[in-house]
Amino acid sequence: MASVTPVILILGAGANIGQHLARAFAAQGYKVAVTARRVKESDSTADQLNITGDLSDPHSVVDAFSKVKSSLGIPSVVVYNAAAVTPNPPNNPLAIPTVDFSRDLTINTTSVFVAAQQAAEGFAQLPDSASRTFIYTGNACNTIVIPSLMDLSVGKSATAQIIQTAAGAYKDRGFKFYYGDERKADGSPAYGAIDGEAHAKLYLELAEGKTQGPWQQTFVKGVGYKKF
Ligand SMILES: NC(=O)c1ccc[n+]([C@@H]2O[C@H](COP(=O)([O-])OP(=O)(O)OC[C@H]3O[C@@H](n4cnc5c(N)ncnc54)[C@H](OP(=O)(O)O)[C@@H]3O)[C@@H](O)[C@H]2O)c1
Repeated sequence: MASVTPVILILGAGANIGQHLARAFAAQGYKVAVTARRVKESDSTADQLNITGDLSDPHSVVDAFSKVKSSLGIPSVVVYNAAAVTPNPPNNPLAIPTVDFSRDLTINTTSVFVAAQQAAEGFAQLPDSASRTFIYTGNACNTIVIPSLMDLSVGKSATAQIIQTAAGAYKDRGFKFYYGDERKADGSPAYGAIDGEAHAKLYLELAEGKTQGPWQQTFVKGVGYKKF
């Protein structure tokens, strides 16, 4: 039987992690689809399908999956990489306007839930040989309190629950769910030093892995997975 070209969908792809992922997976023979607010669909190439969409609207996730399926096929790897934050004064986290809190929570969690739903629906239609991997780009905010980043931390924490629960629940069906979290060597958050290439290397390994590993993929550039 002819083998089917695998497809990766990257939700929220920009110049750093998104582009490194796109390049790394394309080099492994994947067809690549990316979404972002500023990508132009008219700039799509034979190697990359661009889908314009704003993840503050969960319907954009369903739209992206529908376009990918009809143009490239069912994605066997889905990465949710977008994030939103409205910083707050460290001594007044409740000052965030409700409209901003709600929008950020949709981007950081509700749209991720929809993406995981859509991904799992697709995984169920793929053969056991397919990767069937969902990866959310997180950070340390689900494990520590950063006083000025409350709404980002609420979203990352809630989504960590989705990932952890799904990792356990779908393990026997061969679906894998991960929370990627780059750290510095001492375990502190990578912050502005996050490395797109290191994310691509880890995410490729996770996609190629045959079984579910630790859902919380804390990792260090040049080292790989490291439990903190
Ligand atoms: N481990 C750490 O310490 C750490 C540190 C920093 C960041 N992070 C995480 O890394 C991820 C981002 O990494 P990066 O900046 O290197 O990735 P990137 O691929 O360079 O950029 C992410 C892209 O997501 C898109 N995006 C943002 N909001 C969106 C929305 N509402 N709808 C659709 N697309 C949206 C943006 O493009 P458009 O503007 O065109 O929409 C942006 O270019 C986030 O999940 C963040 O929380 C982790």
